[in-house]
Amino acid sequence: MSPFRLTRTLPEDATDSALRADVLQGLTGSPRTLPPKWFYDARGSELFEEITGLPEYYPTRAEREILLARSGEIAEASGARTLIELGSGSSEKTRHLLDALTGLHTYVPVDVSESALTLAGRALAAERPGLNVHALVDDFTSHMTLPGTPGPRLVAFLGGTIGNLLPAERAAFLASVRAMLAPGDALLLGTDLVKDEKVLVRAYDDAAGVTAAFNKNVLTVINRELGADFDPAAFDHVAVWDAEHEWIEMRLRSRDRQTVKIPALDLAVVFGAGEDLRTEVSAKFRKERVREELDAAGLESARWWTDEEGRFALSLSVAR
Ligand code: AVJ
Repeated sequence: MSPFRLTRTLPEDATDSALRADVLQGLTGSPRTLPPKWFYDARGSELFEEITGLPEYYPTRAEREILLARSGEIAEASGARTLIELGSGSSEKTRHLLDALTGLHTYVPVDVSESALTLAGRALAAERPGLNVHALVDDFTSHMTLPGTPGPRLVAFLGGTIGNLLPAERAAFLASVRAMLAPGDALLLGTDLVKDEKVLVRAYDDAAGVTAAFNKNVLTVINRELGADFDPAAFDHVAVWDAEHEWIEMRLRSRDRQTVKIPALDLAVVFGAGEDLRTEVSAKFRKERVREELDAAGLESARWWTDEEGRFALSLSVAR
């Protein structure tokens, strides 16, 4: 059994105050919005796992296909001794990469969920003698301090989660990733690609209604954490393609005019009939845009791999 350590840089109450601030800001603004990170309580994470197995939701399978085919090349190109995975969750898809990275010294999974980190991290440390696992409880969208482990470093941000960030947030995020790296260190980034609108909309509005339940779960989170009285049945799940920005938006559309009370914020929010609450942006990319955004952050594009059908891409870029 190799060493497992866990460092918590997020204060215990950080989640609670961040949720309050986000809900206050998002529900009093126009249009009304909520950041997608609040989907992922235990139930939301379970629903997301279910989404990844749906016939309409291709990104997880497409990315797994690339990782299976290309882990050897990724390992060779990066020569990583430290792998840092942002938003590691269950670390499930990372196993191919860990298998391929033969010279790896330390794996640093980073997630806001301490329970997921402990579960996955302990299992990995037990399975892989000689691999140090140093889990970090952190919100990787803000500045992060990494343990002083040997280079070269490889940061992995998979699943297409970068698409949840708006363009300005993405630029700041990529700059903060660059700041964690030394010249020659690398970023492995998963991006979903622009494709036929129908395919995209179906992936976010599946026939079985799992994505609808996932979307409405954020209301249950706010009810529980802030004492709100959202009625999830009073909202419809909507997925729309924004062709100008090239992103999918998930929204919750108020069926009728209604007032929702949020006691913890001393707030009452009036939704008009048909008014939308935007709960997620999921940006889709083209190769050129990925290259430009990486370049602007000081990351030079080195490799680009897609699945056979060209639906999803993994890119490897190197810090200048
Ligand atoms: C986990 C952010 C990559 O945007 O496709 C799945 C989340 N939302 N179905 C995505 C999600 C609706 C997912 N990411």
